[in-house]
Amino acid sequence: MTLKLLSRRGDPFARLLLDGGQHDRAYDLVEQIRQQGRMSRVFGGNAWVTADLQITREILRDSRFRTAKPYDRSPFRTVQRLFDKTNPGVINPVEPPSLLMVDEPDHARLRRLVSRAFTPKAIDGLRHCIHEVAEDLLNELDDGGSECDLAVAYASRIPIEIIADMLGIPRTEAPYLYEMGELTSKLITTTAPSWRNFRIAVAALRELEGYLATHIERLRGANADDSILSAVVQDTELSDFEVRTFAGLLLGAGFLTTAHQFGNAVVALINHPDQIARLLAHPEGWSNAVEEMLRFDSVSQIGVRVATEEVQIGGYTVQNGTAVFLLLAGANRDPAVFERPDQFDTARANARDHVSFGTGSHVCLGAPLARMELQIGLQALFERFPRLALAGSPTMNDSTLLRGISYLPVALGSSSVSLG
Ligand code: HEM
Repeated sequence: MTLKLLSRRGDPFARLLLDGGQHDRAYDLVEQIRQQGRMSRVFGGNAWVTADLQITREILRDSRFRTAKPYDRSPFRTVQRLFDKTNPGVINPVEPPSLLMVDEPDHARLRRLVSRAFTPKAIDGLRHCIHEVAEDLLNELDDGGSECDLAVAYASRIPIEIIADMLGIPRTEAPYLYEMGELTSKLITTTAPSWRNFRIAVAALRELEGYLATHIERLRGANADDSILSAVVQDTELSDFEVRTFAGLLLGAGFLTTAHQFGNAVVALINHPDQIARLLAHPEGWSNAVEEMLRFDSVSQIGVRVATEEVQIGGYTVQNGTAVFLLLAGANRDPAVFERPDQFDTARANARDHVSFGTGSHVCLGAPLARMELQIGLQALFERFPRLALAGSPTMNDSTLLRGISYLPVALGSSSVSLG
């Protein structure tokens, strides 16, 4: 039975997959799914869905589940195979050897190699870059008009410029990375890209791969720098293709996720001016506030895992080869864990228990960086423009997997510092 038919019959999961972009409805649909039980069957019993935090955690940490590959879920399987034949080996964030898609033992090997460059020290080294980028952008906003699209002028630009730094690419080339990030996102923001979007994204990936290959060649030579990519490149255990895929994954996994999380956080804060006032008075609260923003309006909506043998979980039997859809944003509002889960409370004691970065072996490698970008970026923004307000209705993206805002009109209000 098709998704559309299931949706017309009122199946909340089918409706979530089809209308997930209509975000007001998304959380209602998640609650309908939760009412069906801690786990419930979907797609005529061929798969499961859960919004239960404990079950979600258990599955993500259970090595009897593997990651879902595009061939598990795309209706364009035959077409993709054909395309792969004519375009072999293009770097792709949702194809092996992307970390996201590789299972053990290969995953552990790849993750260990790239984690060496992703040390807390290396990430902390980016702290001053984030401050610098945020300050420059805020100065630009200050010099501009009284209103702007914050998604384009701020939320997207911090992560993209930091990714440029991580890759050892000059910030002046960040607009190119931005364009590539937008085009290639068609592969990661939906469960099944249309054929047209698939072609656009793969063509962009192919172009990006050429660009990265030339850049990596430069880093291998006399131009090695202290960037994270340079450290990965120096590792001789990684093949050229694995290095290029990793560089592409940083863009695929680190750009729109963080940009959208910024947007969601800004809207949550603007809707709760009392909490902005409290944070401005007590800046030590920002760190927990970021956790609550990640919990309350998570950019990561859905994860998928597939059982590789029959597994008993939470009293349910998941058959070998069966997919489980993990509603991460739903798990973040599990009333068994979070009191008044629909309430935004930046002082919530257990806000950090969310699964917005996943958990287990694939837990987000960039989580410490994303947290730092959000904290520095949001604090700097509201300290500079404490009266920031919406200047119109934000436009949500139409993604079922990564929930975010593509257009965020704001009135800046007067700036709290006088320049020059
Ligand atoms: C708020 C921003 C972010 C969110 C919500 C987020 C979310 C996630 C989630 C849920 C996963 C796990 C996927 C799974 O289990 O299948 C993941 C993996 C990953 N993320 Fe993030 N992410 C964010 C930012 C970043 C940043 C800034 C980077 C790096 C620049 C990054 C790099 C990665 C990588 C490399 C993986 C793959 C890890 C693996 O499979 O072992 N992410 N992210």
